[in-house]
Amino acid sequence: MKQTITLLSCLFTVGLCSQSVNAQAQQTSKTPPEIVRSSCYMCHSTHGNNPDLAFIPRLAAQNSTYIEEQLMAFRDGSRADPPATIYMWPIAQGLSGDQIKQTAAWFAAQSPPKPFQPDSSASEGREIFLKGVLKADVPACASCHGPKADGNGIFPRLASQNAQYLLAQLRYFRSGVRNDKNADIMKQIALHLTDSQMSAVANYLSTL
Ligand code: HEC
Ligand code: HEC
Repeated sequence: MKQTITLLSCLFTVGLCSQSVNAQAQQTSKTPPEIVRSSCYMCHSTHGNNPDLAFIPRLAAQNSTYIEEQLMAFRDGSRADPPATIYMWPIAQGLSGDQIKQTAAWFAAQSPPKPFQPDSSASEGREIFLKGVLKADVPACASCHGPKADGNGIFPRLASQNAQYLLAQLRYFRSGVRNDKNADIMKQIALHLTDSQMSAVANYLSTL
């Protein structure tokens, strides 16, 4: 409850919150758990597995390479969807290269989050994940993200991620507003998926 209140007061006074978070991260010589506790936990939770709001991604067990790439993309402004600009840009500005590496390693080392319950679109989502959409030239998601969707290197883990977050990202790739280094790979895929296919595959991924 206390965490929810901190988070909500943060979200309602975003500028303020981001600035104080930013200032805290800039203090040097903090250990990774200290950086996470002062600058990340109020949105991502300390172990990256249980945010209160569905548009905030789970970071537990995410690949460290991918996390580093994204923090640099928030820092250089190439990942420019609205939640990124509002919440992550100010925070990433306050992180040094070393802190990016340390927080990425911290979240990558946490246990994977618990999956969500399947809904009625699960079987359609599973089909897209394992086989793609042949007619629309969409390759199987599993071919890059791995058969268990646990990712590797630049390919993010998608398993047990919040469905609403995943769906939003597919739309940001499609519109081009998420335009970081490797985003074009996903843009070509997102352009060929319908909204209902996006929703089905996002829901399925959250259950893995
Ligand atoms: C005020 C809330 C807030 C705080 C504090 C915060 N984040 Fe975030 N973070 C978000 C939101 C919202 C997103 C989703 C951005 C989007 O939709 O593009 C996000 C996205 C991310 C992503 C991208 C994940 C992915 O799957 O692509 C990473 C990595 C990340 N945050 C790391 C951190 C780290 C490390 C810290 C602490 C140094 C931190 N965040 C602090 C709200 C926050
Ligand atoms: C050819 C390889 C490839 C295939 C196939 C692929 N992806 Fe991706 N995907 C990527 C890469 C690379 C990224 C990271 C993009 C970046 O860094 O911005 C990514 C990122 C994502 C993200 C953002 C995750 C996050 O945490 O923000 C989602 C969602 C996603 N992919 C869903 C899918 C779905 C659904 C499919 C199948 C329909 C799919 N991907 C197929 C390569 C692929």
